Amino acid sequence: MVILQDNPLRIGLQQERTPEPLIMVIFGASGDLTQRKLVPAIYELKQDNHLPAELTIVGVARRDWSHDYFREQMRQGVEEFGNGIGSEEVWNDFAEGLYYCSGNMDDQDSYQKLKTFLEELDGKRGTRGNRVFYLAVSPKFFIPGIQNLGEAGMLKDPIKNRLVIEKPFGKDLGTAKSLNRVVQDVCKEQQVYRIDHYLGKETVQNILVFRFANAIFEPLWNRNYVDHIQITVAENVGVEDRAGYYETSGALRDMVQNHLMQLLAITAMEAPNSLDADSIRTEKVKVLQALHLADLHNLDRSAIRGQYSAGWMKGKPVKGYREEAGVDPDSLTPTFVAMKLMIDNWRWKNVPFYLRTGKRLPKKVTEITIQFKEVPLLIFQSAAQQTNPNILTMRIQPNEGISLRFEAKMPGPDLRTRTVDMDFSYGSSFGMATADAYNRLLLDCMLGDQTLFTRADEVEEAWRVVSPALSAWESPADPNTIPQYEAGTWQPTEAEFLLNRDGRRWRRL
Ligand code: BG6
Repeated sequence: MVILQDNPLRIGLQQERTPEPLIMVIFGASGDLTQRKLVPAIYELKQDNHLPAELTIVGVARRDWSHDYFREQMRQGVEEFGNGIGSEEVWNDFAEGLYYCSGNMDDQDSYQKLKTFLEELDGKRGTRGNRVFYLAVSPKFFIPGIQNLGEAGMLKDPIKNRLVIEKPFGKDLGTAKSLNRVVQDVCKEQQVYRIDHYLGKETVQNILVFRFANAIFEPLWNRNYVDHIQITVAENVGVEDRAGYYETSGALRDMVQNHLMQLLAITAMEAPNSLDADSIRTEKVKVLQALHLADLHNLDRSAIRGQYSAGWMKGKPVKGYREEAGVDPDSLTPTFVAMKLMIDNWRWKNVPFYLRTGKRLPKKVTEITIQFKEVPLLIFQSAAQQTNPNILTMRIQPNEGISLRFEAKMPGPDLRTRTVDMDFSYGSSFGMATADAYNRLLLDCMLGDQTLFTRADEVEEAWRVVSPALSAWESPADPNTIPQYEAGTWQPTEAEFLLNRDGRRWRRL
């Protein structure tokens, strides 16, 4: 596909501005997330000239590190997990703005010490009291961390002080509400940036452009033309070395409540009045408010779980989930979830949304498929071996793009039809790799643009939607069994029935 013209429509109007000078304080500075994701992403922003010269990072963790040791660790992170150091001059300039301050999340004295240190840095680096506090720590530290920041007066200024929270945002509706209350006690919603890294993916943002910058698809985007929608987020990796976290989470909490709900909301939402953060988030929350599992009386007809057993991936044997290091051999944690959901509103009444996500599936692929209704009368039926409904696929990853499947006449004297694809691929049209989601999110947060971050009410609604499945699967009355699927296969048979029962089937990917 050829690019004809740049379109001035842009999501996040502030994208081309440079943030104000600021200090980003990262709690959990000795952890993986900081070294593998956050600092490499911030360094890439520096390399691309998106950051102010004064940008300062202060790592906070319990260990007794020096500033220099922290700089070395971060350099290793950039070299190993990022795009590399590139110019030594740029790195040295960046590293000068890296500092470390040891502290304990539970201990108010640590916050006083940090506060004094940040004020000193304001003088030295010209950061003018602007702060982003990033909680890259275990969720058990969220509440004490936020309360202590509040008590130390570090979140007092609604413009200058921001708070970034990684998922998981609660472990169910009740805990999410409590966490939101603690947040709301110490700061305003406009200061809070809840990260869902799927929203930072370029192709997820492109769904909005595709839907609302093109006139031809929107008239079809409703119950009159759409038969159903499938959202698949498949991963080929297993639990890796995260059993400690995953055993308490599972696929429903880890993926469905956040990433899949966001993909669904963006696909189904109404056009916002404008591109400002709250207009978009309000439309998303309206979808979530109208969303529910298809059959709440027979949960098995709308929510399926599964767990991978030993199998084969890329020709190599792999362990089953229960044999993985750190996993309980009798674990009931789901590594796969499929759901049938309905949205009770004018646009989507009676259109099922089928969601599935799992680990150790045959490949890593995320896509959203809109399957349109059949034509009213198949006049080509005798001529064709089979005609298929039109399918619009938005490929989020990999091979990012959009394709439309339709019927075409095969060349030749006979009237025979064949299903063909019209394909747009990001890579070949724009000739550049899409940026990592964290780069975009970190920059937006420094710019004060909340569009791609989830609001308190969105998080709570998403928990409400998955709650019936959570409670059933974790109730003492649960039969203590979980359907198994062999690693390297697509899903447990039960998940096939979810669609077969409706005369549909999962798309073959
Ligand atoms: C994270 C989950 O939020 O998303 C992981 O905790 C999962 O379990 C990851 O592997 C998937 O993200 P991506 O960007 O690789 O699709």
